[in-house]
Amino acid sequence: MKGKPLILGHRGASHDAPENTCAAFSMAMEQQADGVELDVQLTTDGRLCVIHDHTLERTTSGFGPVGEKTMAELSALSAGAWFSPEFSEQKVPELADVLALLPEGATVNVEIKNGPAWYEGIGTAVAEQLCMWKNKLSLIVSSFDHQVLEEVHRREPALYLGLLYEARLYDPVAYVRSLPYPVYSLHLWHGLITAEIARQAHAAGLRVFAYTVDEPEEVARLTAFGIDAIMTNKPREVRQMSGHRVS
Ligand code: G3P
Ligand code: MG
Repeated sequence: MKGKPLILGHRGASHDAPENTCAAFSMAMEQQADGVELDVQLTTDGRLCVIHDHTLERTTSGFGPVGEKTMAELSALSAGAWFSPEFSEQKVPELADVLALLPEGATVNVEIKNGPAWYEGIGTAVAEQLCMWKNKLSLIVSSFDHQVLEEVHRREPALYLGLLYEARLYDPVAYVRSLPYPVYSLHLWHGLITAEIARQAHAAGLRVFAYTVDEPEEVARLTAFGIDAIMTNKPREVRQMSGHRVS
């Protein structure tokens, strides 16, 4: 848990390309990220699609809830025109499409979006999909829904699990120990992370991942705690800020 943090492109290099598109994930790797974070939801025909919001309006040319569409319907939309005309051909990708484009050894943090739209069986679907990629990629599944992580664990116990939360938990380590599955990492909104939380987590064998960090002062503060990973919209800049060599 010492050394430089992993740099993960949050929704890809989402400062420079439309979030959660193949263009953003490819750009994150071009910017020398160690990997990416992405958000998954389930379509009506049971496909894992990569998109953040539960509705389509903000980041696509479509309308309405993601979970009421088939993958074919999502694929007909632009997921890049809202960002810039240059990206108008970008689509809502399937999880498998993103995993296929990443280089061997890349870290992928798959965040399951469950609630307030609830996706029956999404944990099992993610675990089954990731099983096929475990020899190529370094995989971590996270969620704000701590129950869906149990579903992932039941289907594929070897997958690393990350607890996402935005609250000031009274005792995070005690909470982790109360869960019916092993936790690999705490994924915290960066403003919640203190030296003491990092120390307690590390002493308990937990990694600490921070999101979403784009500012130099915050990168420096977190790096001083020995933070294990930083999710950023600006992988190239944050890699430099955190002391990595950038070619
Ligand atoms: O996984 C970290 C972070 O992405 C969680 O929040 O809303 O950006 O998906 P959000
Ligand atoms: Mg996310």
